[in-house]
Amino acid sequence: MKINKKVKDLSPSGIRAFFDLVIGMKDVISLGVGEPDFDTPWRISESAIFSVEKGYTTYTSNKGLQELREQISRYLKPRLKTSYDPNDEILITVGVSEAMDLAMRALSVSDCKALIHEPCYVSYYPTAYLAGLDPVYLATTAQTAFKVTPKQLAETKTSSGDIFLLNYPCNPTGASYNRDELVELARVIEKKDLFVISDEIYGDYMTYDGDHVPFPSLPGMRQRTLYLNGFSKAYAMTGWRIGYAAGPREVIAAMTKIHQYTILCAPIMGQMAALEALRCDKEAKSMRAEYNRRRKYIVTELNKLGLDCLMPQGAFYAFASIQSTGMDSVEFAHKLLEEEKVAVVPGTAFGPSGAGYIRMSYATGISDIKEALSRIGKFLKKHCA
Ligand SMILES: Cc1ncc(COP(=O)(O)O)c(C=O)c1O
Repeated sequence: MKINKKVKDLSPSGIRAFFDLVIGMKDVISLGVGEPDFDTPWRISESAIFSVEKGYTTYTSNKGLQELREQISRYLKPRLKTSYDPNDEILITVGVSEAMDLAMRALSVSDCKALIHEPCYVSYYPTAYLAGLDPVYLATTAQTAFKVTPKQLAETKTSSGDIFLLNYPCNPTGASYNRDELVELARVIEKKDLFVISDEIYGDYMTYDGDHVPFPSLPGMRQRTLYLNGFSKAYAMTGWRIGYAAGPREVIAAMTKIHQYTILCAPIMGQMAALEALRCDKEAKSMRAEYNRRRKYIVTELNKLGLDCLMPQGAFYAFASIQSTGMDSVEFAHKLLEEEKVAVVPGTAFGPSGAGYIRMSYATGISDIKEALSRIGKFLKKHCA
């Protein structure tokens, strides 16, 4: 048996490698996983259960349930200030994860680069690499609040048709962009003739300061953007595995071809649940209010402890510097886990610029956050007094 060399050469996810250590340990407070601590709102679950009782247990159209695509199109129109035809400009996928993989594969032509800001979500580089694209990291640092600047993009060597990946609010840094910043980036994108994949999974309900500005809503960007969104985070539905892509019909058609031969369709139970979720604005907003409360608390307390942390503009992660401790991020995370039983993710899991940082998820109950911070305080006293 021979294993594909590209797969062999790929390192396993830094998050998974670290969390394998946590399994089996007792009394660990985990600020590790990027998963809402809320249950899926009951009316969503109930609606999916009822749909199973009614016999909705079959395949759906490859593109996803027509009614769900229509509802998504209606949902997007006022937000994105543009309309997507539910028949051929929207595809329902198994989470944003599948949509990202399909997009990379559909857009992979020879010598095409994927420009990926980092620190970033763990799947971007591997999916680009496995799809045969040439992944190129654009480093972001605290100096620019972990944002790609128009100057940085302008100075990056690119060719017409290269892919520029955006994720805002960003996992792991919480960085987001205001309209003016996006307009400036869009100018460079147009000039360089790039195509954008915009992962906005945290956009609608996890932007805390100001409004989220979807990328396709910017002048001239609709035709050069593939917009990705999903239900996992906003509605606490990670296990239902539903996401979607909206974009130019040639791109959606190419993605649909791969999807129909590999996945066939996203699970119908998840799609039925997603239909109900689109009616759950109130529930999503109430979860956001709680994340926002925790965000302010955790970031204030981390700074008091001497771990510099910018106020994240969205998502549910605090990305704190541990440079003052003299430890590197892996050493810090391992020692903190062993000595104080608090699990955080080393910043290097998200790219080289994550060195000297740790990511803490505040999708964790406030009492656990308080206890974790008190243990971190104890740990810092012991190591940095
Ligand atoms: C930025 C980002 N994109 C995509 C995903 C995957 O989402 P899904 O559950 O829809 O596959 C995550 C999950 O953590 C994420 O943080």
